[in-house]
Amino acid sequence: MKATNSSDLKIREISAQETYDLRHRVMWPNKPEKYVALENDAKGIHFGLSKDSRLISVVSLFITNDGAQFRKLATEKSEQGNGYGTLLLNHLMAIITNRKIKKIWCNARADKTSFYERFGMQPTSKTFTKGGIDYIIMEKIYKSNL
Ligand SMILES: CC(C)(COP(=O)(O)OP(=O)(O)OC[C@H]1O[C@@H](n2cnc3c(N)ncnc32)[C@H](O)[C@@H]1OP(=O)(O)O)[C@@H](O)C(=O)NCCC(=O)NCCS
Repeated sequence: MKATNSSDLKIREISAQETYDLRHRVMWPNKPEKYVALENDAKGIHFGLSKDSRLISVVSLFITNDGAQFRKLATEKSEQGNGYGTLLLNHLMAIITNRKIKKIWCNARADKTSFYERFGMQPTSKTFTKGGIDYIIMEKIYKSNL
């Protein structure tokens, strides 16, 4: 990770509510804030990375019978590129491995696929467009958990 200064970094579980501000400002600033609330947020596990007590990166995990989906990974604009998104995704992947989940997947913005490939995720043939943005479903199968 590049953030090697003495900042205090912590990953913890947060409420869905706590993710909304970053989700909104980073991902959908031109939509009303309620646009970023997900219908199943109450069923998700939400993680936040804070730096010196300030929340700067969030992600949400939804576990179902056929795998786990993560959604709404967002890092504060001024903090992007410092390795925080990577820390959060690695945290999720460790949870998946420990819980013996077979598959992790996400709807990746098409311009972010190479970011997710770094985590062993592969593009599937499923694509769609929402809110003017193209998406590709990406997944990683945990063979040892099958
Ligand atoms: C995508 C995002 C979550 C990454 O978070 P981050 O905290 O900046 O991630 P990291 O710092 O751990 O990783 C950044 C690395 O990914 C690379 N990266 C960033 N955006 C990328 C992209 N669009 N395609 C490929 N690689 C990308 C960077 O070049 C950087 O690489 P480096 O470490 O070699 O310099 C963040 O850019 C973000 O919040 N973007 C806006 C919201 C968004 O698009 N969310 C994802 C929806 S699928």
